[in-house]
Amino acid sequence: MKKRIAVLPGDGIGKEVVKGAIEVLQAVGERFGHQFDFSYGKIGGTAIDAAGTPLPDETLELCKECDAVLLGAVGGPKWDCQPPHLRPERGLLKLRKELALYANLRPTQYYSSLSDTSPLRKEVIEGVDMLMVRELTGGLYFGKPSERTKQNGEDAVVDTLYYQKDEMHRVIKLAFELARKRRGKVTSIDKANVLESSRMWREVAEDLSKRYPDVTLEHMLVDNAAMQMIKNPKQFDVVVTENMFGDILSDEASVLTGSLGMLPSASISENGPYLYEPIHGSAPDIEGKNTANPIAMILSAAMMLRLSFGMEEEAAAIENAVNQVLDAGCRTRDIVSFGKKQVSTSEMIEEVKATLLDNEAILNIMGAYA
Ligand code: IPM
Ligand code: MG
Repeated sequence: MKKRIAVLPGDGIGKEVVKGAIEVLQAVGERFGHQFDFSYGKIGGTAIDAAGTPLPDETLELCKECDAVLLGAVGGPKWDCQPPHLRPERGLLKLRKELALYANLRPTQYYSSLSDTSPLRKEVIEGVDMLMVRELTGGLYFGKPSERTKQNGEDAVVDTLYYQKDEMHRVIKLAFELARKRRGKVTSIDKANVLESSRMWREVAEDLSKRYPDVTLEHMLVDNAAMQMIKNPKQFDVVVTENMFGDILSDEASVLTGSLGMLPSASISENGPYLYEPIHGSAPDIEGKNTANPIAMILSAAMMLRLSFGMEEEAAAIENAVNQVLDAGCRTRDIVSFGKKQVSTSEMIEEVKATLLDNEAILNIMGAYA
């Protein structure tokens, strides 16, 4: 199969981890006989420096022409004092909106080899398998007005939480569909005791649940959910929530796996292309140090193979290779623990690649004797 992929490394460690995804995809291409063509575009601070805008038109056009988009991370202190429309994050938000990426899937899985890395006890996290479905193109992130104002001569500010009912409907429906293929439970997270938007969200979830009698629907207030995720994370199967709550809770959920550097994500739309990015940021403090964990980005590439290209076997091959490397005791700095081998970003990438290609050698031998 031949596929064209837009690659937007962005800022900070984005560039370092994206390199890992590309190299691993090249290894997949070699092993399974696919051709991946990579076309690079600028986004975030890098694009501000080069083109004066966080999302140049040519980057957007490139993404629309490609079969899928891989994105590293955006942001950094260099651009923190920019006016709002010239912040790196604005580029990513505009891209999500322009590509109509209404749902962001953030799977959180327990890795037995990392049980000693999580701050939570092994009994609490053992077997966690949760899929966060975050609404991605509405809510506080996009509502207007969002600005500084004056009220009776005093400085004031407003951000707006705005949703249309159909925006809630499509993302909650997706959560039900996904739950059907998993353990059949949806936890819808809101703040219905305070927010009107949450009360509508709850109604939409209730209405939809009538069409999914095989799926159990549970509502949970977001403050309680933040606690439950740490106290008893195994209770969650599919979690669905609005944009801002999802942003906050998914960072929390990542700790269950051992590190923010482990969590991949897929942002999906009605018609594609989909976008794949790790949930972590650009980590400017470790930029260029070759210590970042490339696994979230590599696993995002695996999600791309599965969801955009239907390459289930290839996606599983990447996930298996990552598991084997972790089982063998290889750790980047964020997940290292006593008795394990600390490796750099590039060494981790090499290990995953070598494991992927070595599997090929094993398969060939088996083929010859079959
Ligand atoms: C994420 C990030 C982004 C978000 C930022 C970089 C705009 O935190 O993908 O979770 O808030 O959505
Ligand atoms: Mg976030």
